Amino acid sequence: TLFEQLGGEAAVTAVTAQFYANIQADATVANFFKGINMADQTSKTASFLCAALGGPKAWGGRNLKEVHANMGVTNAQFTTVIGHLRSALTSAGVAANLVEQTVAVAETVRGDVVTA
Ligand code: HEM
Repeated sequence: TLFEQLGGEAAVTAVTAQFYANIQADATVANFFKGINMADQTSKTASFLCAALGGPKAWGGRNLKEVHANMGVTNAQFTTVIGHLRSALTSAGVAANLVEQTVAVAETVRGDVVTA
């Protein structure tokens, strides 16, 4: 699975932490996360991604469409955030083809997150 190829839960969690660090350093998207506990956010999104990448534990959290319903995220902002995931993966030394496959999995939630 992609989960195994990336190096399992620890590797996915490390990439997710870098993903949110990149987001928080980008003024065009950082404000969405104002007041959010980023340790919790990292752990939840890492769990979601582990499941989506074929890991052994099912996602036990909330429905992503409901979670993101009132945020007004645009397609352009979502694309920016995907770019932050791509750079987190690349800076972790993940091979380019694996980066693109992982990004493609994250892209499957675009329709749940984008509402504007
Ligand atoms: C929760 C924003 C993209 C997965 C949240 C929360 C915010 C947020 C602010 C916290 C909600 C709360 O606790 O009240 C955004 C923005 C995105 C984005 C602005 C893109 C522009 C994504 C993507 C994924 C994702 C790409 C998955 C790959 C999650 C998960 C939660 C969450 C798993 C926690 C759900 C739960 O509480 O069970 N998001 N998100 N988000 N987001 Fe996103």
